[in-house]
Amino acid sequence: MRGVIEIVPTHVVREGGGFMVRRPFRMGKVMSPFLLIDEMGPVDYGPGEAKGAPWHPHRGFETVTYLLDGRMRHEDSEGNIGELNPGDVQWMTAGRGIIHCEEPHEEFFRTGGKMHGFQIWVNLPAANKMMKPRYQEVPVSESPVVEQDGIWARVIAGECMGKSSNIDTKIPITLIHVKMEKDVSLVQQIESNLNGMIYVFGGEISIENEIRVRKHPMPFGIEAKQQIKDGELALLSEGGEINIRSKSSSEFLILAGPELNEPIERYGPFVMNTREEIHQAVLDYQNGTLANKNEE
Ligand code: FE2
Repeated sequence: MRGVIEIVPTHVVREGGGFMVRRPFRMGKVMSPFLLIDEMGPVDYGPGEAKGAPWHPHRGFETVTYLLDGRMRHEDSEGNIGELNPGDVQWMTAGRGIIHCEEPHEEFFRTGGKMHGFQIWVNLPAANKMMKPRYQEVPVSESPVVEQDGIWARVIAGECMGKSSNIDTKIPITLIHVKMEKDVSLVQQIESNLNGMIYVFGGEISIENEIRVRKHPMPFGIEAKQQIKDGELALLSEGGEINIRSKSSSEFLILAGPELNEPIERYGPFVMNTREEIHQAVLDYQNGTLANKNEE
């Protein structure tokens, strides 16, 4: 069974065109393969106030956008245009390069309203960093959702309570959105060789088992504890399953993936293994070859 080895607190950061996100500290250093977990909002925008991320590039990893409230529109260098509505998931593999914009939908921008969602960056192993870019989109109507005994779960990647996601990932990834009523329990299986973590964004849960502290690459001096509350990211010890109990009505993400054990060189929206590869990404972006839709 997995226990909590560390609670990573969050801070609020301004992103993109000026929207606020809640982000765990030191992401990218604490838990491979996740580079970033940004909770966008929740925020209530007035008419004409909503903000997004204007045109920008990515190379070397994947961005997962999951919308809970609001409406977004995206467009990219490959000519793809689409929108995201509550419950929709967009799993974008930037691979060797994509340039895109992620903005509030024009109608949402005009009317305003509540915006809430996540963008999670998943690292790619060196062998896949320069793969052909791809999108996997799961509209809310096709989303694997399971509901029983006071637990609701959307399986974005991986498996939960017998439901599986069709998202294809280069490395095994689990990403589950769970809502629990007060005083119910969920036992989630996670392959024991994967890193596991839980991000709580509503209420409070506890992990019910013994703590088995493993050697962690970045000890931070935060006392291990079993309670996880709103705005905390819990890093979990090794083990085959997580035994979660809701202390109140609660909402959280369960994340898991492998330790990549590869060097990370990061410069803004580029995440590679070496400084030379970062220089190349910047050069390619500057001379217009980062994202080439004619290349196979
Ligand atoms: Fe982006």
